[in-house]
Amino acid sequence: MILKLDNVYYRYAKNAPYILNGISHEFERGKLYAIMGGSGSGKTTFISIIAALDKPTSGRIFFDGTDIITLNSDEYRAKKISIIFQNYNLLYNYTALDNITTVLDIIGFKGNYNAKASELLSDVKIPKEKHRYPVHNLSGGEQQRVAIARALTGDPDIIIADEPTGNLDKINQENIMEIFRDLAKNRGKCVIIVTHSDYVGEYADEILYISDGKIVTSSDSAF
Ligand SMILES: Nc1ncnc2c1ncn2[C@@H]1O[C@H](COP(=O)(O)OP(=O)(O)OP(=O)(O)O)[C@@H](O)[C@H]1O
Ligand SMILES: [Mg+2]
Repeated sequence: MILKLDNVYYRYAKNAPYILNGISHEFERGKLYAIMGGSGSGKTTFISIIAALDKPTSGRIFFDGTDIITLNSDEYRAKKISIIFQNYNLLYNYTALDNITTVLDIIGFKGNYNAKASELLSDVKIPKEKHRYPVHNLSGGEQQRVAIARALTGDPDIIIADEPTGNLDKINQENIMEIFRDLAKNRGKCVIIVTHSDYVGEYADEILYISDGKIVTSSDSAF
């Protein structure tokens, strides 16, 4: 097991209602998880907490057996866990390549930045000639793939994506989900995807339904 949540509670402020209401769950390498539930049920809050963007109000989170509170959170976020936000948060005036080299720089990569960035972009099937396009000239599906490539820069064990296919047509949804499935099945990553889509849910090994900040059911996908 790569990640374990033990009775995690979270609220945004003292006296505010709890958004996460006692969540316990274990996540494994090599599996794809879908997190589903109504709008406002706490899905984005949940993944922000596991990515250590914020701390649980109570309860504990273990990464590979170690309480994440004891880990250096910059290193945890750079090398162990990576989160892809719904709006991608790319640098839109930068080229696809530079969106990746910027991160290689931040994480202290040793080697040829452009070659490594190009390799990461090719892994997500961005054609070579587009590596030097400014991101705003790429399609939504291509931007999503650049965001995935960027998330893979530090070779994290856990990849989290918030609604990664929300704005994409069926073919692009399929392409993106094939990439996530490959990361889980062939590269042993733990992939956690927040989605409202039953189609995306079909790719999951396990679906967690969140309601009122609790996991109400966890089921194996029909896929
Ligand atoms: N920064 C914040 N401060 C206070 N409350 C917040 C904050 N961010 C989110 N919330 C509240 O927490 C609850 C859960 O929000 P969250 O974004 O986790 O839901 P969600 O399941 O991701 O919804 P959606 O499917 O619409 O993205 C909502 O009631 C929301 O208003
Ligand atoms: Mg959300």
